[in-house]
Amino acid sequence: MDDMTTKKPVNDAPVIETRGLTMGYGAQLIQENINFKVNQGDIFVVMGGSGCGKSTLLKHLTGLYEPVAGNILYNGVSYTCADESERQKLRSRWGVTFQSGALFSDMTLAENIALPVRHAGIPRKETAELVAYKLALVGLSGFEDYYPSQISGGMCKRAGLARAIALDPEILFFDEPSAGLDPLSARRLDDLILNLRDSTGTTVVMVTHELASIFAIANNGIYLDAITKTWLDQGDPKWLRDHSQKDIVRSFLARGEEGSNRELME
Ligand SMILES: Nc1ncnc2c1ncn2[C@@H]1O[C@H](COP(=O)(O)OP(=O)(O)OP(=O)(O)O)[C@@H](O)[C@H]1O
Ligand SMILES: [Mg+2]
Repeated sequence: MDDMTTKKPVNDAPVIETRGLTMGYGAQLIQENINFKVNQGDIFVVMGGSGCGKSTLLKHLTGLYEPVAGNILYNGVSYTCADESERQKLRSRWGVTFQSGALFSDMTLAENIALPVRHAGIPRKETAELVAYKLALVGLSGFEDYYPSQISGGMCKRAGLARAIALDPEILFFDEPSAGLDPLSARRLDDLILNLRDSTGTTVVMVTHELASIFAIANNGIYLDAITKTWLDQGDPKWLRDHSQKDIVRSFLARGEEGSNRELME
C-alpha cells in the first residue's frame, strides 16, 4: 500500500493509475510492471497483438482479478487495497462490456438494459423511462421487445453500450467494441462513444485491434508486448505511430498486422 495515495487531493489524481501492476494466471506471468495514467475524459486504448493480455488488463482494472503485484488507483484511491464496500462504491461508477460481453439471450433488449438499473434500486416506472432513453441514445428506439437473436451484430453491440451506460458511469470499459462489425457499423459505434465522452465527460478505456477506431477516437493509450511481457510505449496513438522509439509500436500502428504476427509466431 502506498501511503501517498490517500494524502493526495482527490481531484488532482488521474481517473485511473496503475503502479507496478503485474498480472498472471497461476504460475503463468502475463504482463509485468505496467504503469500508466488515464485522465478525465480520455479515450484510452489498450493495444497489442492477440494474447498479449489486453482483456486480462481490462479484467484487472474492473476488479475481476487480483493483481499478482502492484496497485490500481481510482482518483487516487487504491482499489487494490480497498475493502469490499469501498470496492463496491468504486465499481458502481463504472460501465463494463467484455469481449464476449453478450447480452442475455433469453431477455429482451429492454430487460437486458433494465437489469443493472433494477439492481441499483431504481423504481420500475423510472426504469422503463431510463431504458427507453438509453436505447434512443444508441439508435435503438422501438427495439425494446426484441431478443438479441432478432437483431444484427452491430445492434447487439449498441445495445451492450446502452446497458453499460444505463447508470451514467464515470468510466466506461469496452473490450473490442467493433470486432466483427462492418466498417460503417464500427464507425457508428465509434461516433457514439465519442459523442458520449463529449456530452458527459465519461472516461473510456477500450481494447481494440481496429486501427480506424484507434485513430478516430483515442487520444491516449498503451501498447502491451507479449514477448517482453510488459508495456513498450504509451501516449497518443497518432504520436506513437509517427514518433515511438519502439519499431514494433510504430509498425503495429502503421500497418496494423506486423505486431500481432510477430507475437503470434513466437
Ligand atoms: N482465465 C484465464 N485463465 C488462464 N489463462 C488465461 C485466462 N484468460 C486468459 N488467459 C491467458 O492469458 C493470455 C492473455 O489473454 P488475453 O485474453 O488477456 O489476451 P488478449 O490480448 O485480450 O488477446 P485477444 O486480442 O486475442 O483478445 C493468453 O495466453 C490466455 O490464454
Ligand atoms: Mg482480448
